[in-house]
Amino acid sequence: MFGNMKGGIGKSTATLLSATALSQAPFNKKVIVLDLDRQGSLSELRELDKDDTNNFSYDVRACSVEDFYSSLDELDTKYDLIFLDTGGKLDNNLPFDKQEITPILLNTDVLFVPFVAGNFGTDATLKYLEYAFKIKTLKKSKGHDLDIIGFVNMYIKNRKEDNQLNNYLNEIASDTGLKFLVNRLGFYSAYRGADTIKSLYKKDPSTTQERNLKLWINELNKNLE
Ligand SMILES: Nc1ncnc2c1ncn2[C@@H]1O[C@H](COP(=O)(O)OP(=O)(O)O)[C@@H](O)[C@H]1O
Ligand SMILES: [Mg+2]
Repeated sequence: MFGNMKGGIGKSTATLLSATALSQAPFNKKVIVLDLDRQGSLSELRELDKDDTNNFSYDVRACSVEDFYSSLDELDTKYDLIFLDTGGKLDNNLPFDKQEITPILLNTDVLFVPFVAGNFGTDATLKYLEYAFKIKTLKKSKGHDLDIIGFVNMYIKNRKEDNQLNNYLNEIASDTGLKFLVNRLGFYSAYRGADTIKSLYKKDPSTTQERNLKLWINELNKNLE
């Protein structure tokens, strides 16, 4: 799943780009997106897309954390990839039975954490990371693991803020051991109008945006294998 405490950092967009790409050629994986965000953005988008087609390359299901828990076994046998789209707010201060992020992370294999330049002044992302590493330790003590991988979203080449982010991420990497995707997801208007039908992944890219997305998706996919 794509997780971060901050809103508007690209969790849902990254989910959308990955689910459309990986469910279609050349990947052809069986994919479902579970929309655990109360604001339900991706499931709403899918509803809108039903005006155009009913022939989707992957499923989208709005669900609660309870639904997620109870359907995990069924989903695991039916799908190659289960993407979780959450609101992301850290709720580990609540009693355990009211928490959502903890049970979700306990049942997640890979957590991708988006970083956006100019957005790291607050330490929301660091707090989230610290918490995710705690869950990783907890899972390891039980013989499981949680892969935590950072990546840069909305990257604009040669922009001052992106160069600063780069230095900052090098520090985070050496302080926490966090792995990062080498490829960054660029800032492209095409991603704003993306739907749940069409993949923007091109096997033979001809524009910078297409090349950028291909590299990013390929690297993401490697980290899911
Ligand atoms: N790489 C990107 N390039 C351009 N726009 C982006 C990119 N990533 C996200 N956005 C836009 O930023 C806004 C917030 O992204 P969203 O994926 O909804 O964030 P989150 O799910 O983390 O709240 C949306 O309008 C989305 O279209
Ligand atoms: Mg979202």
